[in-house]
Amino acid sequence: MNILAPSLLSANFANLERDIALLEQSGITYLHIDVMDGQLVPNISIGIPVVESLRPITNMVFDCHLMILHPSKYIDAFAKAGADIITFHVDVAEDIQQNLNQIKKLGKKAGLVINAHIAPQTAQPYLQQIDMVTVMSVQAGFGGQKFMPSSLEKIAYFANQKKERNLSYDIQVDGGINLQNVEAVLSAGVNVVVAGSSVFNTKDTAEAISNFMRCL
Ligand code: DX5
Ligand code: ZN
Repeated sequence: MNILAPSLLSANFANLERDIALLEQSGITYLHIDVMDGQLVPNISIGIPVVESLRPITNMVFDCHLMILHPSKYIDAFAKAGADIITFHVDVAEDIQQNLNQIKKLGKKAGLVINAHIAPQTAQPYLQQIDMVTVMSVQAGFGGQKFMPSSLEKIAYFANQKKERNLSYDIQVDGGINLQNVEAVLSAGVNVVVAGSSVFNTKDTAEAISNFMRCL
């Protein structure tokens, strides 16, 4: 069963509780939470106190995408705040292995993110131990960007590795996903689809979700 993980970045920040309730009513079980530090990416978004405030209001899986430098400094705090999955960018982690161990030790799922300019092979040595790999289909930093078709090849790389080596990680795609390209990413091997603007910046979020669900 494929999963839709709406990105909170495109929700209404003055009405997060309302938007989360709407997602739950529409059958959503994963919430993608984009954490940006203004350093790794040019934008600043959600931080630890927001995750902590949202934790008591929903049982959804919190998929925390750390777009930050020095992720190891903040992993404990995000775990404590309520993250279920913690992903970090493979190109900026000082010690990928140590970060994965840190996340696992906290009893959380760990994932590696491959930004648009990063080769998928960078994650190759860790595929056996990760729970998820995230292929960025835009340059990380902003919602509402255009899908980059070059991500399809990277997705296929991870799908092949998974099959050939009989591994079990999830393959997530993040950025520019809409009803027009979702089938292409699914057939390339994705099973967790992040969608921000095509869920929230629409006339009717519930309808957008049910249209997505039909494609999954
Ligand atoms: C981009 C973020 C994405 C973003 C997706 O850096 O990682 O999760 O919120 O938003 P859309 O679906 O609008 O591209
Ligand atoms: Zn993201």
